[in-house]
Amino acid sequence: MVREKFLVYDYYYSIPCHECGKINPALDFAEYTGSHPFQIDNLRHEEDTVVWIPTSRDDIESQEFPHEAWGSERILSLGKRPFYKRLDSLDEYTPKSTWDTLAPHWLTVEEENYHHKYRILPDVYRMLDVQKGDKILDVACGKGNVARHLPGSGAIVTGIDIPKMIDYAIESEEKEKLGIRYLELNAEKLSEKFGEASFDKVVCNMALMDIEDFRTIINQMFLVLKEHGVFVFSILHPAFSFPSCTSRRIPEDSQRNEDRIRFVLDYFDERPILFDFGGDVIPSPSFALHFQRTISSYLNELANNNLVLREMSEPRVSEELVRRFPRNAYWDDERRPEFLIVKSVKKVEI
Ligand SMILES: C[S@@+](CC[C@H](N)C(=O)[O-])C[C@H]1O[C@@H](n2cnc3c(N)ncnc32)[C@H](O)[C@@H]1O
Repeated sequence: MVREKFLVYDYYYSIPCHECGKINPALDFAEYTGSHPFQIDNLRHEEDTVVWIPTSRDDIESQEFPHEAWGSERILSLGKRPFYKRLDSLDEYTPKSTWDTLAPHWLTVEEENYHHKYRILPDVYRMLDVQKGDKILDVACGKGNVARHLPGSGAIVTGIDIPKMIDYAIESEEKEKLGIRYLELNAEKLSEKFGEASFDKVVCNMALMDIEDFRTIINQMFLVLKEHGVFVFSILHPAFSFPSCTSRRIPEDSQRNEDRIRFVLDYFDERPILFDFGGDVIPSPSFALHFQRTISSYLNELANNNLVLREMSEPRVSEELVRRFPRNAYWDDERRPEFLIVKSVKKVEI
């Protein structure tokens, strides 16, 4: 693959002619023959956003789900997730019930969770800037992916999560002791458990968008932080990734990533969304809850709590990642961010 303009495209393939051996630029000959790595075996992209366009009233009446025919309900399927639904209440599903089911399948970074390992955590660790002796709280620590990384830099680490997720973290500490204290605790009750100003740093990795009462929890994290303490969180990008944004390929069978078009769905609709987390590794259906929020909702909540913004990162994919992980890293990740990582510092009251 050569990163140079070719016709209207940003890259081309350089293919030796089998007759004369001369190197020629090609859009993608393998794609044309159906033998491109993306088209065969499990390397094939599964981008199947389906838009339902009813052609008659009968179509609308026979439709079972989604049945509110217009607006974004016409999007029947988002990427690999064949089901998604905005909810008005949490009667049937709660963060706890969904995470209980997902917990056994949740990956550890050691199991090569590509997004966490290569795209999110490098920035999270850089922003945390761990110093020897730092007291760090990992909120919604899951299996301890972040917590387990920190003692290596000399930090004194506590991780909290709700059951069953925390059981897996405790189990991993029993298997390999790193001196991390794991506690079963709802993040809404941090200050009751730890008291005010007990930590130098608080981290919440890829969890705030899964958390129901994020306002209380940001306030709780503020309370347990010392003055000048650092709070770092990462989330799915509220504007450019699932569920407010999805993609389609035009033409549909193109495997070239610049033919992937992104469109934004209900960015402002701040409601819980139920979606199937299942896919390649996690069995389907495995429902998860996600809470759609705008970027301003998150940042204003920091401001309301005297947490001063120090840095925001929208990590961009590198050429090396695309080469190493063709299935996970796409060129269109160079055009839009999938994650948002934020560092803030607790302001000193004068
Ligand atoms: C996507 S996982 C992230 C886990 C972990 N931080 C990681 O990086 O692997 C989201 C986590 O949020 C936790 N969670 C959801 N609501 C919570 C709450 N109210 N208090 C504590 N943890 C919560 C879930 O149990 C789950 O472990």
